[in-house]
Amino acid sequence: MRLRTKSCCFPSLPKLLPVLLSLVLLSACGGGERPDDSLRIGVALYSQDDTFISALAQDLAQLAQEEEGRIGQKITLLISDSRHNQTTQMDQVDRFLARGCDVLCVNMVDRTGAAVIVDKAEAEGVPVIFFNRQPVDEDIQRWEKTFYVGAGAQESGTLEGQLAADAWNADPDRWDRNGDGLMQYVMLEGEPGHQDALLRTEYTVKAITDSGIEVERLARDTANWNRAQAAARTALWAEEFGDQIEVILSNNDDMALGAIDALSGTGRPLEDWPLIVGIDATVPAMEAVAAGQLYATVLNDSRGQAQAMLNLALALHAGEDPAQAVELEDGHYVWLPYAKVTRENLDSFRK
Ligand code: GAL
Ligand code: CA
Repeated sequence: MRLRTKSCCFPSLPKLLPVLLSLVLLSACGGGERPDDSLRIGVALYSQDDTFISALAQDLAQLAQEEEGRIGQKITLLISDSRHNQTTQMDQVDRFLARGCDVLCVNMVDRTGAAVIVDKAEAEGVPVIFFNRQPVDEDIQRWEKTFYVGAGAQESGTLEGQLAADAWNADPDRWDRNGDGLMQYVMLEGEPGHQDALLRTEYTVKAITDSGIEVERLARDTANWNRAQAAARTALWAEEFGDQIEVILSNNDDMALGAIDALSGTGRPLEDWPLIVGIDATVPAMEAVAAGQLYATVLNDSRGQAQAMLNLALALHAGEDPAQAVELEDGHYVWLPYAKVTRENLDSFRK
């Protein structure tokens, strides 16, 4: 096995990727010069504590390892955790460039700050692939070797809304607890300003109302993609609104799981819980679907996104046309589809 990760400058890596721990310990820590002819990819994560991002990084590491065996090209991943700090991320990008990375993969902390990174990368002739946190189009268009790999935020919201609407319409007596014909809901939102928070919030509700259901929002708040914050928020709402809450719409699975934590804490029997839906199809969320606590989720295809990033990186490094390696829209964008995950089709999504 030849996948190597260099962790001397990024001590948090072992926490992120237990899979790679032994490899990290085995590998010598390279200096500024290139130790070999491997493809070096610098991967800057906005936060390694984010469940979905951590899964995506693991997928990338696994796929790189598989690809290495298949094509006989050494691939070295250097992974950094920006810990929600854009200044830290800028330093990490500088270090990746100083250490001779061939391609950068950047998960922006502040997605409005991409222009600086594009300019630094262009000055060194190092292609940059942004992922998951979408920069503005102007920044993506700044240089021909700038790309974005992600999934359409609007699509995920629409699918989540359809799942909620389908459940509601299939059993209105169960979900419309007060029998007034309206869906009383609360909305757990991701980080303010994140494309997925803005568009999922809007399009989830739009899909529900488009299906002919009238809604009443009891409350909304950000829980920053975070399970503990969502649990705290939902516990307060549960006190304030009690069983008036008929549906909990969440911008991601971790926050839906937080809502589940809070409801479990109330001791209320499962058949009296509100309808809860999320997005990501993380492993714990799929367990909650299997247990009947989470009604459904939407697959955010971390493996597909990681594969697209890797294919792009390999093509760019080899000087090949990236459009031959991935399906490129507008010369810069790679979009992966979302998919609905319910108890019925769950098994086809579990690894
Ligand atoms: C979203 C994902 C969230 C969170 C966020 C981080 O696509 O659904 O769970 O990981 O990205 O940027
Ligand atoms: Ca109602």
